[in-house]
Order: sequence, then structure tokens, then C-alpha cells
Amino acid sequence: MKLIDLYAKLKKDISYIEKELERCIDNDNALLREASLHLLKAGGKRIRPVYVLLGAKFGTYDLERIKHVAVSLELIHMASLVHDDVIDDATTRRGQLTVKSKWDNKIAMYTGDYIFAKALSVVTQLPNPVIHQIMSKAIVEMSIGEMEQIRFFFNSDQTVRDYLLRIKRKTALLIAISCQLGAIASGASEEISRCLYTYGYNVGMAFQVRDDILDLCGTEKELGKPPGSDIRQGNISIPVIFALQDIELKSGLLKEIARIQQFDGQTDISDFLRSIRNSSGIKRAEDLASRYIDKAITALQPLPNIQAKKDFIGIAHFIGNRSY
Ligand code: IPE
Ligand code: IPE
Ligand code: MG
Ligand code: MG
Repeated sequence: MKLIDLYAKLKKDISYIEKELERCIDNDNALLREASLHLLKAGGKRIRPVYVLLGAKFGTYDLERIKHVAVSLELIHMASLVHDDVIDDATTRRGQLTVKSKWDNKIAMYTGDYIFAKALSVVTQLPNPVIHQIMSKAIVEMSIGEMEQIRFFFNSDQTVRDYLLRIKRKTALLIAISCQLGAIASGASEEISRCLYTYGYNVGMAFQVRDDILDLCGTEKELGKPPGSDIRQGNISIPVIFALQDIELKSGLLKEIARIQQFDGQTDISDFLRSIRNSSGIKRAEDLASRYIDKAITALQPLPNIQAKKDFIGIAHFIGNRSY
């Protein structure tokens, strides 16, 4: 299934969420408005709000209620991207200039803060402290994940476990709660929201593993940014960790990584990319992503056989193979 086919069924509700997103980030301050709108209008897959809508199909579906969760989660995601691009010194995102490069780092920091604050103001319109707590916990974990990523920059001794814990925090938990909160906000049973959380966690892990494979193997056109951005900034991702386990490749790769670090990422990385692409690291990472996708789909087993369940399975397959 293609993501677009699934979106066709949710089209009306997604356009409504889009309008709400636009309305939410509007502000009299022209800079805040323009910088936030710039990222919003650049597009994006909107996976997190889509998961909220689908999760809500397992309870009493009320768009006026769940929109607060859907909008808020996309805003949290957007805010984290604006900040992430400052940390990663990224020039492009979603095929457009990043806020930090169209304007500057200071403007990007405040734009990110502004979007985060808007996320809070939207979700607190739901008088449900459990939802607020789940969300704030996820934001704290994301911050820890990003900090851990900085701590491990250019560290070639890190383990698979270090990597998995980091991506759980920075990516998987937000996706897990997107699935879970749609169900909670629509009054679905606890068992259902628990299954959806497990599904979202596993899909989220696969999502970041794929993102990291794409960063090494994708083209600039597919990615909306140049390939190899991760290693330039020092982020050693799972295909590289696997490739480093290959005794024949290890010393050459370590030299390349040291050279990239020495030039602060501002150097030709084509040799590095070539060795990783030719290594077994890519295939092993792909297998890891597929195992997470299988686990995600297994987690859905106890759920009632409604259309939304099929859609959850369809998105999992899309994420397992995604090229954007
Ligand atoms: C990008 O997320 C950041 C990661 C968690 C890998 P998405 O791939 O969902 O970004 P958009 O929203 O579609 O641009
Ligand atoms: C995901 O990490 C970013 C967040 C969870 C905020 P990446 O740094 O891999 O995301 P991209 O590749 O820049 O989208
Ligand atoms: Mg990044
Ligand atoms: Mg990435």
C-alpha cells in the first residue's frame, strides 16, 4: 500500500487538521508566523496526526476532540525538527531551506520554542491530565535522546544497545504515544491503547532505522537534504555500527570517521558512503527494521478487525520500505 492511498480515506479529516495547524501557529508577530508557516507549508508526511486519527477509530471517533491531540503531536514533532536542524546545522528539510538557514539559529530556537508552547496550549484544551502527562514525559525523553546523541557524536565504540536506547527516546516514543493517545482520547479500552502503544513503539524504531539507512543510501532528491548528513555531524547510526563489526572494514572506517571528525564534517565523504553502502551493515539494518515491523504487526493481533487495523498494518509496511 502507498501512504497516499490510505490518506485518501482520511482526506477530509486530514485537511481539517491541516487548517487547524495553520490556524494554531498564526501570530501577529510576522517573524514567528512566517518561520513556523514556512516549515508547515513545506509538507511532511503527517504520520503522527494520521496515527491519532486511526487510533481514535477504536473508540468513539469525535474529530473535534481528537484534533487537539493530533495537532499538538504534529506541533511537537515540528518544534523538534526546527531545533534538530540547528543542532545538525542542516540547510534543507522537506526539500526547502530550514528555518535556521532561511533566517538564523536564534530565530530557529525561538520558533521551536513557540511551536512547542503552541502544542501545549492546544492539548491543554482537553481536560485530561493523563494525556498531558504522557505528552510531557515523551518530550522529556526526546530531549534526553537528543542529548545522548550529542554525547555519542563520533564515538565508534558505541554498542547496538546504545543506539537502540537513543532512537527509542528521540523518535519511537513520540510515534508510540501518537497511536496510544488517539485511542485514549476517544475512550477506547486500556488494552487497545496498550496494543497501539506497542505497535507505535516498534514502528517508531523501524522508522528511525529506515531514516538512518536512507541518510546513507538515499539521493538528495529523495531525502530533501544531502545524503551523509548524519556522519558529517558525528551521528554514528546503526548501519555504521554494524559495518564497524566487520573486521575487514573496521580499521579503514575508523580512519575515515577520524578524518571526517577532524574536518568538522566539511570534507568529502564519498569514500565513507561507498564503504558503508557496500558493507553488510545496510542489509543487517534492513533486517532489523523488518523485525521491528513484524513485531508491530503482531502487537495488533488482539484488536478488533475494523478498517483502521488494516490501515495500521498498511502504514507499517510502508514504513518498513519507505524511501522518503
Ligand atoms: C523526521 O520525521 C525525523 C525523524 C524522526 C526521523 P518524519 O520523517 O516524520 O518527518 P516529516 O514530518 O515527514 O518531514
Ligand atoms: C530525528 O533525528 C530528529 C528528531 C527526533 C527531532 P534525525 O536527525 O535523524 O532527523 P532528520 O534526519 O534530521 O529528519
Ligand atoms: Mg537531523
Ligand atoms: Mg536522519
